[in-house]
Amino acid sequence: MASNFNPYPNPSPIPPTPHHPKPQTHFSQSPQTLSADPNPDPKLVITGGAKLSGHVSISGSKNSALPILAATLCCTGTSKLKNVPNLSDTRTMTSVLGSLGAEIEFSDNEVVVKTDGVGSVEPDPTRIGKFRGGFFVVGPLLARFGEAVVGLPGGCDIGARPVDIYVSGLRALGAVVEVRDNKVVAKTANGKRLAGGRFRLDYPSVGATETLMMAACLAEGKTLLSNVAREPEIIDLARFLTKTGAHMEGVGTDKICIYVKSRLLGAEYGIMPDRIETGSFMLAAAITRSRISLSPVFPGWLSSLIDKLVGAGCKITHKHNMLEVSSSTEDLRGFDVGTLPYPGFPTDLQPQTMAFLSTCNDLSIVDESVFENRMTHVKELQKLGAKIQVFGSTALIYGKEKGNKLCGTRVLASDLRGGMSIVLAGLAAEGVTEVNGVSHIDRGYENLENKLRLLGADVKRFEFSKSNLQQ
Ligand code: EPZ
Repeated sequence: MASNFNPYPNPSPIPPTPHHPKPQTHFSQSPQTLSADPNPDPKLVITGGAKLSGHVSISGSKNSALPILAATLCCTGTSKLKNVPNLSDTRTMTSVLGSLGAEIEFSDNEVVVKTDGVGSVEPDPTRIGKFRGGFFVVGPLLARFGEAVVGLPGGCDIGARPVDIYVSGLRALGAVVEVRDNKVVAKTANGKRLAGGRFRLDYPSVGATETLMMAACLAEGKTLLSNVAREPEIIDLARFLTKTGAHMEGVGTDKICIYVKSRLLGAEYGIMPDRIETGSFMLAAAITRSRISLSPVFPGWLSSLIDKLVGAGCKITHKHNMLEVSSSTEDLRGFDVGTLPYPGFPTDLQPQTMAFLSTCNDLSIVDESVFENRMTHVKELQKLGAKIQVFGSTALIYGKEKGNKLCGTRVLASDLRGGMSIVLAGLAAEGVTEVNGVSHIDRGYENLENKLRLLGADVKRFEFSKSNLQQ
């Protein structure tokens, strides 16, 4: 869009620039420095400017693995899940299942879950409080055991994350649900099975759709859910449930009909590739003006990002399940984008896209409409030299206007995707970027620094382990 376009009559001034400072060229990495930190968190040190090349193998999807792990609780017997990303969130999810009495083996991206020993309907609240995905177990527990007591979920700090839609939906299936002492306490009305019913979600919440699908699978009557989420992860969950014996129709549209089944039996299933990891690496290629290939990828899942990157001037081709992204020119065009539920532009790629836009020509506008507070990365991108103004949930990104450029400095990841956005900015920045708070990024990116290094990026991880630093 034209760089003089201004949608706001009286915009606040751009915050005083912390840049253009001299790019940082090194950081102290002495063990003493880190051991003084009472909460040592790994850090990534990135020397920016390297061109990327080569191939990246995409891991299994976190946001598909989490509900599918929860769904194993709907089944008797053993489930074997393949292509499960080894992440702190998936490990926490397996520990949630373990706290209920499930037997778990997690090795080499394969998780075997035996649920016959499940004897509790109350997962360890300290584990549930660590992330959003743990709350999914409320649906399977209620469906299979008639009762669930689940602490309110934690997760990234990206705005209020209520569970009202979950609660109303479970009530529509005949459950008696109360929220007290920071817990959701749910029981089936007759002490036996959920009843099935009709329910329209006020908003196509991904987690609520998944939870209600799992709950409805074992209900006594047919269930019709409308205004449901249509994300590919919903389809992956439905495929797993179908393998276990569930019967549903309409998945991938805005209505899902789930038919009566009295029992589901554990199954073997391969988790879909992570479309958000894919999009993040596509943006890594774009922000560094490089050429990389990625697989396995289903380009249709990312068409909203692909269209924008092509519009910016990147070249994207695909053959079978392999995608190639290249951008041979420094002069890429900015664009406007607003996040929406699938098939709209994913909120989980908004922060990374903003980092990319700060390296493009022209003014770009980013609107975040899914979460109310997903802008915390802006402050960190500004530290790196990005010129961004925020008005509520809208950000204006001034790109390379007036010689703006990214320069390395010390930054802090405060949530998963925001953390990835500053990693991407660090790859493109002049000098050295030190990314702190890396445990947030570890929740969602498997082997991040190894994958980036294989592409030629200069990224080092520093871990604090008791008495010394490990690189
Ligand atoms: C899932 O979160 C993903 N998490 C998120 O991934 C993703 O950002 C989000 O979907 C949207 O795509 C997992 O799958 C584990 P929502 P979820 O319910 O299910 C409001 C990442 O970075 N809402 O679709 O929690 C809610 O406040 C992450 O990997 C209600 O108001 O998202 C939000 O504004 C973080 N009441 C909107 O809906 C409810 O009862 C969308 O949330 C439920 C949700």
